[in-house]
Amino acid sequence: MSTVRLLLSCLLFKEVLASSGNFWHITDQHWDHTFNLTANPELVCASSGKRPAANAGIFGDYACDSPWHLINSSVYAMKDILPDPDFIVWTGDDTPHIPNGDLGEEAVLNIIGNLTQILNQVFPTTKVYSALGNHDYHPKSQLPAASNSIYNQTAEMWHNWLDPESKTTFQKGGYYTEKLLNRTGFRMLVLNTNLYYDQNKLTENMDDPADQFSWADQVLTEAANNKEKVYIIGHVPPGFFEKKRSKPWFTPKFNKEYLDLIQKHHSVIHGQFFGHHHTDSFRMFYNSEGSPISTMFLSPGVTPWKTTLPGVVDGANNPGIRVFEYDTQTLVVKDVVTYYLNLTHANSARGRWEKEYRLTESFRVPDASPSSMHQALERIANDHCYLQKYYEFNSVSYDLTECDSDCRVDHVCAAREVDFDRYEQCVLKEGAAVISGGLLPVLSVAVSLVLANR
Ligand SMILES: *[C@@H]1O[C@H](CO)[C@@H](O)[C@H](O)[C@H]1NC(C)=O
Ligand SMILES: *[C@@H]1O[C@H](CO)[C@@H](O)[C@H](O)[C@H]1NC(C)=O
Ligand SMILES: *[C@@H]1O[C@H](CO)[C@@H](O)[C@H](O)[C@H]1NC(C)=O
Ligand SMILES: *[C@@H]1O[C@H](CO)[C@@H](O)[C@H](O)[C@H]1NC(C)=O
Ligand SMILES: *[C@@H]1O[C@H](CO)[C@@H](O)[C@H](O)[C@H]1NC(C)=O
Ligand SMILES: *[C@@H]1O[C@H](CO)[C@@H](O)[C@H](O)[C@H]1NC(C)=O
Ligand SMILES: [Zn+2]
Ligand SMILES: [Zn+2]
Repeated sequence: MSTVRLLLSCLLFKEVLASSGNFWHITDQHWDHTFNLTANPELVCASSGKRPAANAGIFGDYACDSPWHLINSSVYAMKDILPDPDFIVWTGDDTPHIPNGDLGEEAVLNIIGNLTQILNQVFPTTKVYSALGNHDYHPKSQLPAASNSIYNQTAEMWHNWLDPESKTTFQKGGYYTEKLLNRTGFRMLVLNTNLYYDQNKLTENMDDPADQFSWADQVLTEAANNKEKVYIIGHVPPGFFEKKRSKPWFTPKFNKEYLDLIQKHHSVIHGQFFGHHHTDSFRMFYNSEGSPISTMFLSPGVTPWKTTLPGVVDGANNPGIRVFEYDTQTLVVKDVVTYYLNLTHANSARGRWEKEYRLTESFRVPDASPSSMHQALERIANDHCYLQKYYEFNSVSYDLTECDSDCRVDHVCAAREVDFDRYEQCVLKEGAAVISGGLLPVLSVAVSLVLANR
């Protein structure tokens, strides 16, 4: 009898284990192949521009993109921390922030090739889903809406990771879809959202570059018909940059179309995983009744490079990599664990990748589902302790200064509103809430009432 019971509980235990999976998400490595520690501070790396790399060490400098040593260290840290993930999500930006004239098509392809090679070497049997970043093209950000030699050669480099059909759509427009891990009922959609980036002069006046929207609409419609659950990955996200007021990436039209796509198909989409910001943040999607329907996770970059975007103060970050834990039956994201390298410490003492935080612990939510992420956002918006914690994680524990009232508005509105008009309304409303007396309890109630009617 007790043997039977033991057997049963083992089976049950196995069932629980079987429905829990995990994957790595890495992004924005930006390998600076010019990094040279023995040069003068202004000449350590081309990506610092005119800024001195005053504290450069073997793992790099906050003014520079990643030296190879940092890239190598991050990939081996992944192998140490979680050697056998279900798969790896890699959302692009491989090349350094240096002028086009100092790169060229061949250099860009070589850099993509080196990063592809190290992932293949360290994770030879792991499936990798890989999206192009705006820096994975020459000239940068000008990704075409048609076949070209860079898409073709990248598809060749990624042949281990792509199904034959994926290769065809990738050669056409840099996007693809496949069953997730070849399992019936589960799907990965890999988008080339660089086509929607407002810096992309080739696509700005097109209706539907590379037919990606109509293709994605069809893929998601079929997914619903086949009762599939879907993850979406890409590089440039819709919505706003949380470190600069009113700074979007997509053109207005493409931003709206992306939002429409998610709102239409949210019931099959169980997670969106993007990069490009180099910071750690997330974006909420709501339906017309104001209920949370989807979350886009923005994972931190490996490069510590301090952005040169005007208006951003001290926009560097520590190198970050992250594990998503998910339910393999429902694809609900259960938790997010971020690991990081304290670059200052790594250069002065030793390179140690450590856990930065676990989402459910730090924000006291049961999981990372859209309703839990909504709850986390409301805590961040209304409780300074959570705001400050979120803010420190945003730069991967690089910037530990106080997040003031303007900072709060920037971060809360960026996370809450992907839509351009609603974001501006949020900035007005949250800004006014601050001017008229801070976060008085009365005001918080008023704000929640307004929110309940959104
Ligand atoms: C690095 O810089 C030093 C000093 O300028 C120079 O002698 C050396 O050749 C450089 N190394 C590389 C690989 O460029
Ligand atoms: C990469 O890191 C591994 C593990 O620390 C180390 O054994 C190897 O020598 C490194 N390779 C390079 C090229 O730095
Ligand atoms: C990058 O790839 C090229 C070509 O395969 C190779 O010669 C070079 O050593 C690689 N560099 C690194 C740092 O792995
Ligand atoms: C890319 O590959 C496709 C499919 O093989 C081919 O039709 C196309 O001509 C290639 N384009 C370029 C620019 O090489
Ligand atoms: C995917 O599954 C199909 C059907 O089960 C099988 O025929 C095919 O070989 C699998 N492909 C891969 C890459 O494992
Ligand atoms: C990073 O390391 C430096 C130098 O050891 C230390 O002063 C700083 O507090 C560390 N940062 C964090 C977030 O632990
Ligand atoms: Zn980047
Ligand atoms: Zn980018």
